Amino acid sequence: MDRNQRREAWEELSQTYAERRDPTGTDADLIDDLLAALPPDPLVLDVGCGDGARTLANLPSGSLGLDFAREGLSLAAETVPDSRLLQADMTAIPLAEGSVDGITAYYAVFHVPRDRQPAVYREFARILQPGGTLLMTLPSGRFQTVRRGWMGGQMFFAAPGRQETLAQLREAGFTDLRTETAADPLGSSSEFVFGRLES
Ligand SMILES: C[S@@+](CC[C@H](N)C(=O)[O-])C[C@H]1O[C@@H](n2cnc3c(N)ncnc32)[C@H](O)[C@@H]1O
Repeated sequence: MDRNQRREAWEELSQTYAERRDPTGTDADLIDDLLAALPPDPLVLDVGCGDGARTLANLPSGSLGLDFAREGLSLAAETVPDSRLLQADMTAIPLAEGSVDGITAYYAVFHVPRDRQPAVYREFARILQPGGTLLMTLPSGRFQTVRRGWMGGQMFFAAPGRQETLAQLREAGFTDLRTETAADPLGSSSEFVFGRLES
């Protein structure tokens, strides 16, 4: 799927994803650990925020949500009205260098083609303050595929393998990588990684 098809897929499925997700997954609890690592009154960006109910809604008031799908953002505007929302692709984030203290990216980067994922991590490193923290889903496998019938539509998924993702994060400047496993919103479990941007 090209970029437009990937975005269109999310325009069609953002609402279904928001409805079918289990609201009790423990993945959202990891945000408390992220916030504990940040300075007081941090500015946090939620990448691939979708409707925002699991991530943006748990971040400090005034946090930023970024998504390339208008549908996800309009749901987020209702769910988290005090957030600030940006429609953009995570490979080119329209924020200045060092402008945020923390980043969350839940179930998001694995919708970007494998060869573009290092560029995403470089963007995360560019917009984070030195010493800032990233919290993102860490896919376990190595795949690049379109799943037909996913939530009644089709969806693109890609990851280069767990070790390669960790290597790409280190290459982008993230250090002190720490992983945690949590219950995910689709009835399974997922690994997450915390990383600190080198000062
Ligand atoms: C599985 S949903 C996760 C939504 C939210 N993070 C959550 O955990 O509930 C993935 C989100 O990433 C967004 N997304 C996928 N590729 C993107 C890209 N290249 N740039 C920005 N957003 C993207 C989709 O529109 C979708 O809202």
